[in-house]
Amino acid sequence: MDWGMRNRMARMFNPNSGHTVMLAVDHGYFMGPTRRLENVGVTLAPLLPYADVIALTRGILRTSVPPTVENPVLLRVSGGVTVLHEDLSDEMVTTPIEEALRLNVCAVAMSVFVGAPHEHETLTALGNLVSDGEASGMPVVAITAVGKELEKRDARYLSLACRVSAELGAHIVKTYYCEDFSRVVEGCPVPLVVAGGPKLDNDEAVLKLAHDAIAAGAAGLDMGRNIWQSDHPVAMIKALRAVVHDRATVREGMEVLKAELATPKGTRGPALA
Ligand code: R5P
Repeated sequence: MDWGMRNRMARMFNPNSGHTVMLAVDHGYFMGPTRRLENVGVTLAPLLPYADVIALTRGILRTSVPPTVENPVLLRVSGGVTVLHEDLSDEMVTTPIEEALRLNVCAVAMSVFVGAPHEHETLTALGNLVSDGEASGMPVVAITAVGKELEKRDARYLSLACRVSAELGAHIVKTYYCEDFSRVVEGCPVPLVVAGGPKLDNDEAVLKLAHDAIAAGAAGLDMGRNIWQSDHPVAMIKALRAVVHDRATVREGMEVLKAELATPKGTRGPALA
């Protein structure tokens, strides 16, 4: 890897833990103004000190994020369909690598839809994006999307989708946690980050997902709804950082969360892991 590529990769991972807590706020690219993400700038502001990376689109970066932010940016560069479309796999690359360079981002991300009607198009687009990324020193994150078929999130399917993404050259793969996740990790030679998916029932379930993913070998999270749809997003992301960076147990993570909630608002500091 050239220095630029290595530098961008290094900036996304905590040098002490080797892990990352990426904050995903890119949902609007196909879901529109998702609940609690109606105004991304407002949702994002209190969470910025705790996000190792922010994941979003160029439109939200330009309109809702001050250029003074220090967080590395993971730029979503695929899209083209919305939740109103029957086939969510009908995506293509919508933002060229030149623009990612101009926006000074740390990596670009696109969805691949393995086993879906547009499998071929999204996988070949990933190959092309990796070629552009290699030429520009820009890491590429492949997102193993499942569209509306959430039941696809099992080890057999995800290990196939993650491995194929890595074989096509993705530098990082973003996927879902599943039972037997270590099988997905074993088959994928590049770092895996785990999405949260739709909001879970309780805080403990979110911390358990993060804990089990890290224990199985994930390099971190790229999580959205389970953080900013929480009634206490800052406490939640702090607890997740404890699990991801300090290897806290679920119980210890819950203690971090409760301690944060017990602290009077005005006195809560950024205390980073
Ligand atoms: C889909 O909109 C994006 O890839 C999200 O960034 C990804 O699903 C992570 O967000 P969440 O944790 O809400 O699933």
